[in-house]
Amino acid sequence: MSSVNKNMIIGFLIVGLLVLAGCGSEKNDKAVFDGDQHPAGWLPAGHMAAAKTDETVCAECHGSDYAGGVSGVSCTLCHLGGVNSVHPAAWSQNTGTYHAPYAASNGTAACSNMYCHGNGLTGVAGSGPSCTSCHLGGSVAVHPSAWSQNTGTFHAPYAVANGTTACSNVNCHGTTLTGVGGSGPSCTSCHLGSPTSVHPIDWAGSILTKHGLYVVANSTGACANINCHGGHLEGVAGSGPSCSSCHSFP
Ligand code: HEC
Ligand code: HEC
Ligand code: HEC
Ligand code: HEC
Ligand code: HEC
Repeated sequence: MSSVNKNMIIGFLIVGLLVLAGCGSEKNDKAVFDGDQHPAGWLPAGHMAAAKTDETVCAECHGSDYAGGVSGVSCTLCHLGGVNSVHPAAWSQNTGTYHAPYAASNGTAACSNMYCHGNGLTGVAGSGPSCTSCHLGGSVAVHPSAWSQNTGTFHAPYAVANGTTACSNVNCHGTTLTGVGGSGPSCTSCHLGSPTSVHPIDWAGSILTKHGLYVVANSTGACANINCHGGHLEGVAGSGPSCSSCHSFP
């Protein structure tokens, strides 16, 4: 059979099925498929509401397996997580852990289209948000890139200027700044005092008398790391000074 004839037969079949579906079904109506197309506003809001109301209506044209049927449009053409799930189900458990590797291996092109997160990743009303509604450093960078150069210098003024509410939410550092698995750490995993106090609060004003007791109790290992006073207590630019700027330890 020539491909022209084949296409014509398939075309008649589709038209026939659409007419059948349009006239013969109790379930289907113009709110779902009007004439030869879905009504205005179908994506994303219209189809979501219709599918949630009665999804079996869709099966008539999109197939009982929702893989396309006579319409030729599979639900998973857009959905990554199956017929009813825009993203794989696991993504809803934890924002950071799951979408990050997906975006890293598939590129942002997989997210940027007029239905999902917008052609320029600036979001789509009623659908996916702008990437920068969460990310501070552009579509694929959680923090501005400069922050990775130096822990202290960059996030400190940001937190001071914007307040800790800019960091405290379920996706980033937790609503009480105690951290989120697979995302931002607790602020006090580095800070010894409060989320905004690098050293215990009672050191304020008397750091010279208090820090010695702390070091005696916890050893210098508690100060020696790349964020605080350097791996060998040599100091970190933009953070804690070298101990030997005052002491001459043996
Ligand atoms: C009477 C047949 C029919 C029914 C019923 C039907 N569809 Fe469709 N659908 C089509 C056809 C044909 C297309 C491809 C042409 C088009 O986009 O209008 C399509 C396309 C779509 C698209 C892609 C639209 C786009 O602009 O790319 C979505 C989304 C969709 N359907 C969802 C649904 C959902 C959800 C239901 C059930 C609530 C449903 N459809 C019921 C026939 C139908
Ligand atoms: C052309 C792309 C496209 C196609 C095809 C498509 N959808 Fe969707 N769907 C979307 C978008 C975009 C959203 C909204 C995402 C959001 O709100 O975050 C969505 C959301 C949904 C939701 C709500 C999911 C939720 O988590 O609340 C349901 C249900 C749904 N679609 C059903 C269907 C069904 C059934 C089909 C096939 C008949 C289908 N969709 C085909 C793009 C599509
Ligand atoms: C609801 C908030 C939120 C939205 C919206 C969001 N992200 Fe994320 N993103 C996160 C979190 C949280 C992390 C994990 C941070 C971590 O692991 O420290 C992350 C991490 C990433 C990473 C890894 C970055 C790194 O430095 O390791 C990439 C890539 C990424 N997201 C891409 C995207 C893209 C592309 C979009 C838009 C389509 C987007 N994200 C939208 C919250 C979000
Ligand atoms: C990886 C370790 C680390 C984490 C996690 C961390 N900080 Fe910091 N923070 C530092 C360092 C290092 C400094 C700089 C200390 C200095 O300049 O002496 C600092 C300084 C600050 C300052 C300035 C404090 C002052 O006394 O000048 C604020 C405010 C701050 N951080 C807020 C936060 C908040 C809010 C969080 C959690 C969302 C957080 N930090 C998480 C390491 C960290
Ligand atoms: C700005 C100067 C200064 C810096 C920097 C400094 N210290 Fe001190 N440190 C002092 C002073 C002054 C004392 C003595 C305070 C006292 O006796 O009341 C002291 C006391 C101590 C003591 C107690 C010594 C004893 O014999 O009881 C220890 C331990 C100590 N510092 C460790 C450190 C470590 C570790 C660092 C780096 C992480 C550090 N110090 C950085 C000024 C400094």
